[in-house]
Amino acid sequence: MPPGINRRWLLAKRPEGTVEAAQFRWAEAPIPSPAPGQALVRNLWLSFHPTAILAMSASESDGGTPIGDVVMGETASQVVESRLPGFEPGDLVESFAGWEDYSTIDGQGFIPARKFPPDIPPNLALGVFGVTGMAAYFGVLEVGRPQPGERVVVSAAAGGVGSIAAQVAKIRGARVIGIAGGPEKCDWLRREAGLDGVIDHRSEDVGRRLDELCPQGIDVYFDNTGGPLLDDALGRLRPSGRVVVCGGTSRYAAAKPPPGPANYLNLAMVNGRMEGVLARDYLPRFPEAVRALRKWLDSGQLKSKEDTVVGLENAPTAFARLFTSANVGKQLLKIADPSLPFRPGA
Ligand SMILES: NC(=O)c1ccc[n+]([C@@H]2O[C@H](COP(=O)([O-])OP(=O)(O)OC[C@H]3O[C@@H](n4cnc5c(N)ncnc54)[C@H](OP(=O)(O)O)[C@@H]3O)[C@@H](O)[C@H]2O)c1
Repeated sequence: MPPGINRRWLLAKRPEGTVEAAQFRWAEAPIPSPAPGQALVRNLWLSFHPTAILAMSASESDGGTPIGDVVMGETASQVVESRLPGFEPGDLVESFAGWEDYSTIDGQGFIPARKFPPDIPPNLALGVFGVTGMAAYFGVLEVGRPQPGERVVVSAAAGGVGSIAAQVAKIRGARVIGIAGGPEKCDWLRREAGLDGVIDHRSEDVGRRLDELCPQGIDVYFDNTGGPLLDDALGRLRPSGRVVVCGGTSRYAAAKPPPGPANYLNLAMVNGRMEGVLARDYLPRFPEAVRALRKWLDSGQLKSKEDTVVGLENAPTAFARLFTSANVGKQLLKIADPSLPFRPGA
């Protein structure tokens, strides 16, 4: 076990409708030793998912994080010491560890720990090539299945999943409209991501703008937020339209969930399809997605947009950005640089 302390964020109380500093408690502990079947990892980067608030909010009996436990999160880490077969010191891994400098992992979990190649930087391992990119890739290609020229609309389009989903649909030849909050995000979607149309849900009437940009209606709606935006899209679905249910960020933190869509029945009228995507269900096909996304990233067809906060002490602030629309692109936090030499080819 390396000498030193393990800085960590513990869950102090359950959120009530918003993310606030009082929910988290800073603590320091000795660096743990790995038991047989575990590896000790140094966490280098943290990725934030809006769904993390569900684990913070749920009671322990409903699978929530126990009060006083370290806050769980997706991490890019480096193995320091290993008693876990298949993992060696120096390996870079993506796993669901926690908001702390060091964690012990057993390789299991909702999404098992995955080694990533040394030439993929940790930020991309958590973004385009992480669960975020996998949800976007499979959600668009397996569930939405846009055809060239079809109208695709993406909510939270300047966020982690949305920014990739919108660009993958564009690469497939669709006409893509992104919905995002604020001029900075809309500018990025127009200029960098090259979308065909952008709607600022903070300053524009979304329904009216959808009518202007998709006068014939929407073929595929990729939904990250739920709530009123989903309802606007459902009401404008074209015959045989598809809705990709990826997430519902507007509902996660709300003390009182926003009213549900009233336009669900339109699915029947247009013979439409609304279907969920869960990145984990595509685990065996992650390598295929990584290869395709990497090719697009290297050729410049796909832009990776990240919003990086530095320092473990800032983890609660970085997480809260997801619920105030502050994040532009994938919300990440950098804790440390790799300290052990990489093992090329690992
Ligand atoms: N199915 C899967 O396997 C899978 C995997 C990963 C993530 N997800 C889901 O994908 C969605 C996006 O995740 P992400 O990590 O990429 O987060 P993100 O979209 O980068 O960040 C959250 C964004 O949601 C929007 N938002 C926040 N509160 C809102 C509200 N009340 N109403 C409308 N929009 C609101 C804001 O963007 P704007 O204001 O710009 O719209 C905010 O920036 C989440 O719902 C997540 O749970 C699903």
